[in-house]
Amino acid sequence: MLRISVMVSGSGSNLQAVIDSIDNGQIKDAEIVQVISSNSEAFALERAKKHGIKGVVIGKQEFPDEEERNVELIKALKKENTNLVILAGYMNILKPELVKEFKGRIINIHPSLIPKYCGEGFYGGKVHEAVINAGEKESGATVHYVDEGIDSGEVIIQEKLFVEPGDNPESLAARVLKIEHIILPKAVLIWQSKGEK
Ligand code: GAR
Repeated sequence: MLRISVMVSGSGSNLQAVIDSIDNGQIKDAEIVQVISSNSEAFALERAKKHGIKGVVIGKQEFPDEEERNVELIKALKKENTNLVILAGYMNILKPELVKEFKGRIINIHPSLIPKYCGEGFYGGKVHEAVINAGEKESGATVHYVDEGIDSGEVIIQEKLFVEPGDNPESLAARVLKIEHIILPKAVLIWQSKGEK
């Protein structure tokens, strides 16, 4: 059984997509063993609770010291014998020690066509704002492996959409999010098919 820890900071609609894909059998032989949130107010924690999934809060509030926070994160992931870490709207950068510890076992969903609009400062709504301001004709979402850089790991899956003439950052975000909910479960299947576990 694949033991997945999902790391979140906000609404958790991508978490929900993974929960649903396990429930409906698209993702097999897997369970979400915990949801780790950087923010105690995240709605993602409500989603976890509703599905009987353990919620853990490890954020700047609880552990202001970065090193200590990192140690807590590694401890939490190991405690649940995590095989795969999914960053689903997790708004912090993972420290290299954690990335090394789980090399090849951390994937992240990002709301742009990496290598465009990613890296330092590009997260959430900022990505869509930048895409609209640049007059891009297309955007999309990407799931990639997490390495020691920011959004620089190998791409697992990517899907495009057209930016419509009347789009604003919010309307674009909503359409990209729909794509995210499709490609994130697919990325888990691809990861499983590589026999990583
Ligand atoms: C998603 O669009 C995700 O791609 C983005 O935050 C949103 C979280 O939504 N992540 C990043 O920008 C990470 N760099 P959700 O909480 O509803 O899944």
